[in-house]
Amino acid sequence: MMLDQAPLGVSTIRLTVNGETITVAADPFASLANTLRDDLGLIGTKIGCDRSECGACTVIMNGKPVYSCSQLAVWADGAQVTTVEGLASGGQLAPVQQAFVQNNGPQCGFCTPGQLMTATALLSNNATPNADEVKQALVGNLCRCSNYNAIVEAVVMAGERSGSAV
Ligand code: FES
Repeated sequence: MMLDQAPLGVSTIRLTVNGETITVAADPFASLANTLRDDLGLIGTKIGCDRSECGACTVIMNGKPVYSCSQLAVWADGAQVTTVEGLASGGQLAPVQQAFVQNNGPQCGFCTPGQLMTATALLSNNATPNADEVKQALVGNLCRCSNYNAIVEAVVMAGERSGSAV
């Protein structure tokens, strides 16, 4: 819940999400994924396994992809967090999102937000990754549709097209 003052037993944390600094009251055992979805309405972040296995919940925290299901919200106090909602700008999909569309990267789409966030973190550090580097980076993001080839091609394309810009 977004509050000025947290109820007893609840921690008030302050974090920057998609460029906006937010104060939120978080239960001590709430995950970052649940806080993003339930308290901040950022439901683009998906919860699949809820136990660090699938990567559907991946967000970028302080520049690194993390499983938000396995991060306590209180650990994000003071952090910079980017979710899939933060990728598009001015009504335009980010290049990596466009490349996913063009390569039919999403199938059912459930894993796509997590795939996009890991890919974005990769492209921030390696502007033009090759297929092997993409596979290595995305090893923790599972796709039950098994659309891996298209996802890898999309990320390689995004790098080729945009260089250092993601
Ligand atoms: Fe977090 Fe699967 S929902 S890793």
